[in-house]
Amino acid sequence: MKYFILTYGCQMNHSDSERIATQLECSGHKPVKTVAKADLIVVNICSIRQSAVHRALDQIYKLSNKKIIVAGCVLPEDRKKLAAKNIDVWHPDDYFWEAPLRQNKFSAFVPIMTGCNNFCSYCAVPFTRGREKSRPAQEIIAEIKKLLKGGAEEIILLGQNVNSYKDNCMTSNPPAPPFTRGVNTDAPLTQRGVRGLRAAQPVIDFPSLLQLINSLPGNFRLSFISSHPKDMSDDLIETVAKCAKVSPYIHLPVQSGDNKILKAMNRHYSVAHYKNLIKKLRLAFKKYRPDFFTRRSLAVTARSFTQRRGEGGPPLAISTDIIVGFPGETARQFQNTLKLIKDVKFDMIYFARYSPRNGTVAARMSDNVSPIEKRRRAQAINSLLKKQASILNKKYINQKVDILIEKIDGNFAFGKTTTNKNVKISMLRHPNLVSGSIVAAKITSVTAWSLKGEM
Ligand code: SAH
Ligand code: SF4
Ligand code: F3S
Repeated sequence: MKYFILTYGCQMNHSDSERIATQLECSGHKPVKTVAKADLIVVNICSIRQSAVHRALDQIYKLSNKKIIVAGCVLPEDRKKLAAKNIDVWHPDDYFWEAPLRQNKFSAFVPIMTGCNNFCSYCAVPFTRGREKSRPAQEIIAEIKKLLKGGAEEIILLGQNVNSYKDNCMTSNPPAPPFTRGVNTDAPLTQRGVRGLRAAQPVIDFPSLLQLINSLPGNFRLSFISSHPKDMSDDLIETVAKCAKVSPYIHLPVQSGDNKILKAMNRHYSVAHYKNLIKKLRLAFKKYRPDFFTRRSLAVTARSFTQRRGEGGPPLAISTDIIVGFPGETARQFQNTLKLIKDVKFDMIYFARYSPRNGTVAARMSDNVSPIEKRRRAQAINSLLKKQASILNKKYINQKVDILIEKIDGNFAFGKTTTNKNVKISMLRHPNLVSGSIVAAKITSVTAWSLKGEM
């Protein structure tokens, strides 16, 4: 049959869709470019907010004349609703071993874990994806090696909480030798210096995994989403700053700038802790990597593309997630969130209006911030972000930065910096730019949301 995959939600779902595509093609189905041309539609659902569920269910009911496979993050109550209409949800337990059919050859998503044990009081994920499960490091490394051989320029590690990644190496028997930082990535993992010195079993945690990937040959970009502030250890901070292939871009969701709300959200950290993490991250990057502003005053200890040419890269960029209108959030508590934003100065904020999710602890609290007030708070964040991000981006003007070209459209190439900023480059004088190449461009103008450059 001719198939089309409709994907909702986060990068994790988009990554899963690449594996679903493999399954379909192995069964002889062929991809088509639109829903209209397909006989078989896979709807990969997201349940993070009710609006996302509505959109997906609307599509499913509209498409009832076609063959439909429903997959992804579905809450038990929606599963029941679908079952009442004779629709089952495809929910394989273990599918990471499957080779994905990549949408983008240059920038590749690599899931390292799925599920979540954190039970933030508002969140559907532990109910849709179940408990945390890490992929064996050996399997991850093999996938990345293959990607790099195939020309990948960027590896993006995925997980709901990547910094609680843990491979207990249960499949490998010999005990690990003492931990060393120099790693031979061709030796079996158990013969390498990995953590867990005194334990009978070696344990590969997230910093160890990053080091292993960082030591693979090639000048690729390495990034990861998402991290949880409660698990951002000093070891991890030092590791990300020291591993030169890790992009100077960290997504660290804070959710709220008020301690009482953070507690009600079950986040297990305070505003002060979060601010301290940001301070430590920025200091570590300044120490180990020269940026536009510090390169003259600090010794070059790490190497990356631009640095090898004797130039500083962009300074560490930080993005976050914020929920507005959590149950009981007062105007003053929201002011605390605005204050945190002013203090931290994020490069990007993904903000959302609180949406009650059935089965969660917060769903039992009164959703008492009105829709109008939620919208007003979201707008307040947006205008503050716009102001701050354009000031941050102005620092890029006249600087030379490496851009990974992702798309060519007419006379323009579109790409992104290592700090995840979108860049538009005029191709009039460079008609030969191709997707997947990395070019050095001088930034000529900026807005809050993107940069413009020329080669
Ligand atoms: N694991 C990540 C978040 C994954 S969900 C973390 O802990 O940060 C992505 C984002 O969706 C969250 O960071 C949160 O900002 C938002 N979100 C989750 N549940 C929500 C809800 N019930 N209403 C509104 N936004 C929500
Ligand atoms: Fe897990 Fe909390 Fe992130 Fe939801 S928001 S995925 S519960 S860490
Ligand atoms: Fe992602 Fe949505 Fe599932 S945000 S993990 S697709 S509920």
